[in-house]
Amino acid sequence: MNYTVVNQKIIHHFVKIAGEGNVFTDQENMVKYSQDETEDLRFFPDVVIKPKHVKEIAAILKYCNEHHIPVTPRGGGTGLSGGALPIKGGVVLSLERLDRIIEIDERNLQVVVEPGVITENLMNAVAEKGFLYPVDPSSKGSCFIGGNMAHGSGGPRVVKYGTIREYVLNLEVVLPSGEIIWTGANTLKYASGYNLTQLMIGSEGTLGIITKIVLKLIPQPKHNLLLLASFPSNEDACAAVSAIFRVGITPSALEFMERKGVDWVREYDDINLSLNPSAAAFLLIEVDGSNLDLLFADCEVINEVLEHHQCLEVLFADSATQKEELWRMRRTMAVSVKSNSVYKEEDTVVPRAELPKLIKGIKMIGEKYGFDSVCYGHAGDGNLHVNILKGNMSDKDWNTQLKEGIKEIFELTVKLGGTISGEHGIGLVQKDYMPIKYAEINLNLMRGIKQVFDPKEILNPGKIF
Ligand code: LAC
Ligand code: ZN
Repeated sequence: MNYTVVNQKIIHHFVKIAGEGNVFTDQENMVKYSQDETEDLRFFPDVVIKPKHVKEIAAILKYCNEHHIPVTPRGGGTGLSGGALPIKGGVVLSLERLDRIIEIDERNLQVVVEPGVITENLMNAVAEKGFLYPVDPSSKGSCFIGGNMAHGSGGPRVVKYGTIREYVLNLEVVLPSGEIIWTGANTLKYASGYNLTQLMIGSEGTLGIITKIVLKLIPQPKHNLLLLASFPSNEDACAAVSAIFRVGITPSALEFMERKGVDWVREYDDINLSLNPSAAAFLLIEVDGSNLDLLFADCEVINEVLEHHQCLEVLFADSATQKEELWRMRRTMAVSVKSNSVYKEEDTVVPRAELPKLIKGIKMIGEKYGFDSVCYGHAGDGNLHVNILKGNMSDKDWNTQLKEGIKEIFELTVKLGGTISGEHGIGLVQKDYMPIKYAEINLNLMRGIKQVFDPKEILNPGKIF
């Protein structure tokens, strides 16, 4: 599809809408907004606009729709599937100035927030009132709640508390036409026609721009306990995961980490932790709740399960500092892999009892195609982040042959009953693999939805399919 080239006249119009200081074409901004956290990909926009008000966004979209100018919405820029990359040029519409927590409704345990609020700031603000918003991706210190929404984000605590989908009640959305709608109601139940709220979640900025979000909150649990268990093999660790649930315990986090990832992150982040030399894989296990005695009892039961799965040793975090350090180790893993090697990241997810087969299969595919990988992720959700390392692979193999290996990984994922992304989205880098998961009829249904919302294809073009 051909789009209108952004010229001075168009930029002048954007300035009239958003104000002189909020429209950028300078080199520094073009570079900054040409990339997100996805590999080393870069696509330059023609202009970056940072509006403050929903009415400005409506006017920008209406104008771009009429003049056929592509618009790529952007949150914190922490995405790993290229969702925020302006691959067709045009406008990057940054939501960073829509950064207000509008209301914490203590009567109904709800919060109304703008999309540019950093997720951790939102969590802290509601925690001050005794509430929990539990969806905390590793990038919580820099990602935006709006970006989390666009990707259907998860993180370590999904295993007990669910993804962002469980918490969104209602959304204000600007459509490409410039019309502003609310998608649902501020209620815990919704049986009133098609659920447009859920449709917007995970739509990756392709259907509309989310400008206000109403989230459900829950009470803060009072206590948590944290264990680090080490295992002689990846498969032993992964087999222990589903066994823990089968004895009736739902941890508040159950994370898997491969040895190489742990070694790299300890070096990268100066984490002082001595590890069993025979340990090849680790599970980080957290339980939370309001009764400390019950949590200790849960940990004893977990210990028994671990013993039956060849666990080498269990480190019980005995201070807030040690808990913080263990979590930092897990959360910094993505950044430390990135700093160590050129890599590609695949966000596989399977029903959790299939994890041992998934990790074994991934390593075998790696041997076949000549790549090493570092795997870690939300084992309790069956969600494994596979970081494929370039290592000694030639540029040619990396850019062509590797695609076949990734295809095989996704084919295995789907064969095991899973899908090609659990929480990072499809964006740009996974879209070629969509036919592995979906029949043409499913893709056509999705294309039909896109057509209804955005018939001129101005919103985040070239993403998902
Ligand atoms: C994590 C991000 C990469 O789990 O999803 O650390
Ligand atoms: Zn993750």
